[in-house]
Parts: sequence; C-alpha cells; structure tokens
Amino acid sequence: MRVLTSGESHGPRLIALLDGVPAGLGIDVAAIDRDLRRRQLGYGRGARQKIERDQVRIVGGVRQGRTTGAPVALEIDNRDAPNWERVMSVEAVVDPPPPVTRLRPGHADLAGAMKFGLHDVRDVIERSSARETAARVAAGAVAKQILALVGTRVQSEVATIGDVDSEPTWDEEAVEASEVRCGRPDRGAEMIAAISAARDAGDTLGGVVALRATGVVPGLGSYAEWDRRLDGRIAQALCSIQAAKGIELGDAFAQARERGSAVHDPIVLRDGRFARTRDRAGGLEGGVTNGEDVLCRVAFKPISTLMKPLPSVDLASGEPAPAHVERSDVCVIPAAGVVAEAMLAIVLAEALVEKFGDDDVETLMASVERYRARLHPLGSRPGQGGGDLTEMP
Ligand SMILES: Cc1cc2nc3c(=O)[nH]c(=O)nc-3n(C[C@H](O)[C@H](O)[C@H](O)COP(=O)(O)O)c2cc1C
Repeated sequence: MRVLTSGESHGPRLIALLDGVPAGLGIDVAAIDRDLRRRQLGYGRGARQKIERDQVRIVGGVRQGRTTGAPVALEIDNRDAPNWERVMSVEAVVDPPPPVTRLRPGHADLAGAMKFGLHDVRDVIERSSARETAARVAAGAVAKQILALVGTRVQSEVATIGDVDSEPTWDEEAVEASEVRCGRPDRGAEMIAAISAARDAGDTLGGVVALRATGVVPGLGSYAEWDRRLDGRIAQALCSIQAAKGIELGDAFAQARERGSAVHDPIVLRDGRFARTRDRAGGLEGGVTNGEDVLCRVAFKPISTLMKPLPSVDLASGEPAPAHVERSDVCVIPAAGVVAEAMLAIVLAEALVEKFGDDDVETLMASVERYRARLHPLGSRPGQGGGDLTEMP
C-alpha cells in the first residue's frame, strides 16, 4: 500500500491517493469525516479552523460502498480557497501579490527557498503547511478501516503541553471530551492555562503525544532488512509529521538509563498464547510486532509562526527584518495526536496487507486466520501433541 498527498494550504483542495487498498473493504465515510473533524478541534488552534469544515469526497476506487482494488482517491475542499484566488491562481495574473520574503526561523521558509531556488516564500509555505495533514488523516481513516478487519485499533492522547505532563489514561471518552485531548481533567485545565499564557505572550507551545495500537497481529515488519523494520518505519512516518522532532518507542529514553533485567518484558503463557508481563518494548522486538500493544510517543516542537516574530533576514534584500507573521495556531498538540494516529494506522495497515495480501479482503482474512491458527505455542500445535510450555527453559 502507498499513500501520496497533493494540494496546497490555500489551493482549491487537498488530495490523498491510496494505492493497494484491498478490494471488498466497506468504506465508512462518516468515520473519515469524524477523524477530519477531530483534527480541527483543540484549544490553541487559529482562526483557520473556524473557516474550514473538512469533509471527504471519494472520487476513485470505491463503488457501492466497497473498495474495488483501484487506487482510492480522497478529496477535501479548502473552504478558505475563494479568499486566496488571486494569490493561488494557477495562471499568472497581471497584478501578482507581493512576494513573502521575511523568513520564519523554525519553518521551512529558508531551507525550502534555497532548495527549490524560490524567490517567493509563499511557494514554500503553501505545501510545507500542516494543512496537508487533513489529507493524511483522511488516508489514515481508511487505514483504520483495514486494521479494524483484524481487530486493531489506534488511539492517541496528549501527554505533555509545554511543561504540563499527564500520564495517558487511554480513556477515549475522557480524551475526546477534553479540549486538549488529555484524559485527566486537572492536567487538561493546566494545559489550557499554559496555552492561554503563551498566546498572551505572542508565543507558541509544543508537547508530546502518546499513541497506542491494540489488537495488533504479531509478525508485522521484519528484522531481515533495515528498511523492513517496523520500528524504523513507524519512526519515519511519525517524524514526517510537520513539527514532529522526536519519537520514542515503548519507554525508550527511560530504558537507556536502566539495566536489561528491569527493561525487557518477561515471556509467559496466557490462555495457551505467548504473552508478556509488561510492555516496555512497545510491542516491537527485532523490528517485528510481538502481539503486545504498540506504544510510542511523538515530541512536537512549538510551532514557528510567532505573533512576536524573531529576528530574521529578508530573502530579497538580505537586510535584517523580523520574521513573517501570518494567521497561525498557538498550540497544535491535540490535532497532532489525530495526525499521529493516522500515520501509525497507515504504517500498520501497510505492514498488514504486505504480509497477508492486498488483493481482496476475503483472501486477506483467510490468510490471517491460517496464520493465527499456527500461532499456538510450540509443542501445543494441533497434531503435534501438547507439551508443558511453562517448563520451557
Ligand atoms: C496539526 C498541525 C498544525 C500546524 N499549524 C501550524 C501553524 O499554524 N503555524 C506554524 O507556523 N506551524 C504550524 N505547524 C508546523 C509547521 O507546519 C512545521 O513546523 C513546518 O512545516 C516546518 O517543518 P518542521 O517543523 O517539521 O521542520 C503545524 C503542525 C501540525 C502538525
């Protein structure tokens, strides 16, 4: 499965193209829209979210409610686009808008202008902007529907905003009821206060999002080649999110300070299956899912468009100039959690169809069933007689 996106922040629409979605998958459009809406919420978002009412339009790969095996094409209109027609015109206009030339430290402005030889930073902003994440969330919602076939669910919860920490509760109702998507109301209130204080100071705040996938099929990914390792693929996908700067699998940074005996997850037999007494590995060993919950965290830097801009330089004149200021969010961590869910779902769904087949849902499910049947512990496989595995060295 491959996912590509296209479209600019203030262009007519965003597009997500998913190749390799198995045929026969029932598509729940309302569930895609629900995730799009969740991405737009959150205390600390800017005025843009009041304009947009994101809704998906499926224009390829689905017929009579089911995927056909053709690429699935998803579109999301930018309702703000009519206000940007002259700026975003595909044809050259006679009176083009003045170029943006004051570079924002921390955004893609300077790096992007140097890379593509651009003289108007607007060309960089329009695609580096995280408006693109709406397309990722729509694609991720389809990936979640693939994962649901095998009982895998992906959740996120805000764990940190600024210097306010909260241990994840994984209580979905509480998380969705919170304006900052934090399951602990007292911590959530502190996060909201921190965002307000940053806004009043013309500043921004970052944070950390915790992710959990439950019901994960063991054996996804591989240790056999570096680019097949699922830990690496998850890290790449999550780090590709705009403003994501750090990934932690399990509780990796705490583990780095401890001894192996305290860190690794003892193996036991539970109900005839291999299981663990804890999950500090975050469900991944050797770049392969081990059947425990996949747990990871993503650290996001504070966003870079500041209402009190940092010193910078003008791209055209080379003269010192304060950074460009435009409508912007103060804190995006609640929304970033929804985007991170989508990226984790895309990687897990890709790995699932890679292992079990991407032609059609029926073949995929039959293959999963066969595989599950042979996941009995060694010695207790059907036809091999039962051994007492609790005695295994
Ligand atoms: C959901 C979401 C919304 C964002 N909104 C803004 C924003 O309003 N203003 C801004 O300067 N950056 C915003 N960002 C971050 C920038 O898009 C990002 O910093 C920029 O593309 C540069 O990439 P980098 O930070 O990964 O290096 C947002 C990020 C996410 C995940």
